Amino acid sequence: MFVCGLLGWRAMIVGISLFHLYPATSASSLNPPIGQKPLFATVNEVHGYNYSIGFSLQSSFGAAAAIIDKFDGQTATVARVFHGGAEYERVMTRLSLETSRHIAPPYDDDGQFWADQPRKVVREALKAAQLPASYEVLILAQVIQRLRSEIESTLGIEIQEAVFAASHLVALYQDDIQDAAAYSGIKYVIPKGLHDPFVWETAAAYAGHGFGLCKHWQDDDACADEGKQMPSETILAVHYSRTALTVSLTVISQALWAWEPDYRRVENFTLGSDSIKSYPNREDYWTDVKDTILSINTQFPLFPKPGKVLVTGDLDGGDFIDFLRSTMEEYLGTAPHFLTNDTTTAAAKGAAQFMRRGPAAWSP
Ligand SMILES: *[C@@H]1O[C@H](CO)[C@@H](O)[C@H](O)[C@H]1NC(C)=O
Ligand SMILES: *[C@@H]1O[C@H](CO)[C@@H](O)[C@H](O)[C@H]1NC(C)=O
Ligand SMILES: *[C@@H]1O[C@H](CO)[C@@H](O)[C@H](O)[C@H]1NC(C)=O
Repeated sequence: MFVCGLLGWRAMIVGISLFHLYPATSASSLNPPIGQKPLFATVNEVHGYNYSIGFSLQSSFGAAAAIIDKFDGQTATVARVFHGGAEYERVMTRLSLETSRHIAPPYDDDGQFWADQPRKVVREALKAAQLPASYEVLILAQVIQRLRSEIESTLGIEIQEAVFAASHLVALYQDDIQDAAAYSGIKYVIPKGLHDPFVWETAAAYAGHGFGLCKHWQDDDACADEGKQMPSETILAVHYSRTALTVSLTVISQALWAWEPDYRRVENFTLGSDSIKSYPNREDYWTDVKDTILSINTQFPLFPKPGKVLVTGDLDGGDFIDFLRSTMEEYLGTAPHFLTNDTTTAAAKGAAQFMRRGPAAWSP
C-alpha cells in the first residue's frame, strides 16, 4: 500500500515536472544519459598515457581541456570551446539573478535541510527516471556532452571523470553541476584541497595560468609545504563576454583557497558586448562598464588594491582589454600585471590541473 502510494506519487511528480520543465524542448533533445562506465583510479589512463580532464561552464560558452602526461615525462594540453547558444545564455543569465536563489546544499542547519526536501524529491524522481534533474541541468549537460565528444574524438579516449569549474553565479549550485556531469555520464570529482561548494572560475583560471599550484603534486607533504609558502595576493578577476561582465576582488594564495565572497563580486548580464546595441550611444555603454569594473574597489576603498588583473571570457568586444588596462592604470596610478591570454580556456585548463592532482578524500 505504502509502496504503491509512493510509486504513484513519484510518477505523478515526474509527469507534472516534465510538463513544467520542458515546455519548449523537443523530444529529440531528451537523449537518454550515456551509461556510467567503470572508473579508473584517479585519472583517465590509456596506453600508459594519463589524461586529466577539466570542464568549465561560463557565461556564454563552455570549455574543456585535457592534460596528457606521457610516459617519457612530456606533457601536452588540448582544449576546446563551445558556444552554448541562446538557451544556454538564458540559463546562465537566470542563474546570475538574486531572484533565482533557493536553498541548496551545503545546508547551514537542519531547518534548511527539511525546507529543501520538496525540491530534492522532484530532482531525485527525475534522475530515477533517467531524466535531467532540472531544465538548467539539461542545458548545461548539452554543452558538456558536446565538449566531451570533441575531446574524445580528438584524443581517441573515453572520458570517465573530470573536475568541473563554473562561473561564480549567485544561483548556480553544486548539485546543478554535479547532476549535469552525471547526466553526461561523467563522474564528478571534487579536487583535493577544495573549500568552496565547487570550483569557481577565478580559482580555475588562476591555476590555468600556472599560479597557486604546487610543483611536487605527487607528494602530498611536499605539496602542502609549498602551499604554505605561497604568498597571498589580491587580484581583480574580470569576465567579459557577449552576455556578461562580472568582476570579483579575490584574495588568493593556493588556487583552490580563493576567497571570493558575494559582497566582493558583481554579476551583470546586461553589460556584455551584445548590449552595446541597446545603448543610444557607445560612450554611455563604456561609462557603465567602467563604473562596474571599479565598483568593488570604490565600495571598499581600504581593501588592498589588486596586483594582478585576471581576464576571462570570449571578449567579443575587441577593444575591451585596452579599455580595461587604461581604466585600471588610471584608477591605481600604476600598471598591475595583466593575465589576458587564453581567456576562453584558462579555467578549463586549471580544472584539468586540479583533476591531475587527484580527488579529495570526500569526493563522491
Ligand atoms: C599515470 O597515473 C598513474 C596512477 O596515478 C601513475 O602510477 C603513472 O605513473 C602515471 N603515468 C604517467 C605517464 O604520468
Ligand atoms: C599565457 O602566456 C604565458 C607566457 O607565454 C604562459 O606562461 C601562460 O601559461 C599562458 N596562460 C595560459 C592560461 O595558457
Ligand atoms: C547592470 O548594469 C546596468 C548599467 O550600469 C545597471 O543599470 C543594472 O542595474 C546592472 N544590473 C545588475 C544586475 O546589477
